[in-house]
Amino acid sequence: MDDRDLIRQTLRTVPDWPVPGVQFRDITPLLQNPRVFRVLIDQFVHRYFDARPDAIAGIDARGFILGAVLAYELNIGFVPIRKKGKLPFDTVEESYALEYGEATVELHTDAVKPGDRVVLVDDLIATGGTMLAGKKLLERLGATVIEGAAIVDLPELGGSTRLRAEGLALHTLVS
Ligand code: PRP
Ligand code: ADE
Repeated sequence: MDDRDLIRQTLRTVPDWPVPGVQFRDITPLLQNPRVFRVLIDQFVHRYFDARPDAIAGIDARGFILGAVLAYELNIGFVPIRKKGKLPFDTVEESYALEYGEATVELHTDAVKPGDRVVLVDDLIATGGTMLAGKKLLERLGATVIEGAAIVDLPELGGSTRLRAEGLALHTLVS
């Protein structure tokens, strides 16, 4: 079985969570199985090793798990994009709509420098609102997002199409 099939088969779908009608794609089985977790991280390490980004930005909360390990493996820094009200220093913020609600994310103003090349990491792209907000925050600080990376794309929700239309290159492992 190839890596992507292993990831696809290990992902868990929980119907009607957190609200009726949502098919929730749960990544926790991927993290729980050490072989699959390694395969997953290695996929992203191989993708970004030669690109030599300056930093990994991970999105609250599941993007932290992947993004921090990826940054560690690439020997570069990790910056968290957090839900509003969690970061203690000066921040920039963006609000956006979700598949099941709305949210605001923040980034410390000193998280990246103008000209930094950053990979933006999350677990999943649904409507694309979260990743677009992350891209805007990084760009407001003068950084360039070289690619958005996620394990799962849900193309029927239109997020990946929307993000590419906004000029964000994407790398996802399973649809
Ligand atoms: C989920 C997921 C992505 C986002 C994707 O996070 O982890 O961050 O939704 O949806 P979108 O493409 O429609 O924006 P959620 O906001 O549920 O937060 P959590 O990680 O704290 O559970
Ligand atoms: N975030 C937004 N939609 C989601 C879904 N269907 N599964 C997991 N995370 C999500």
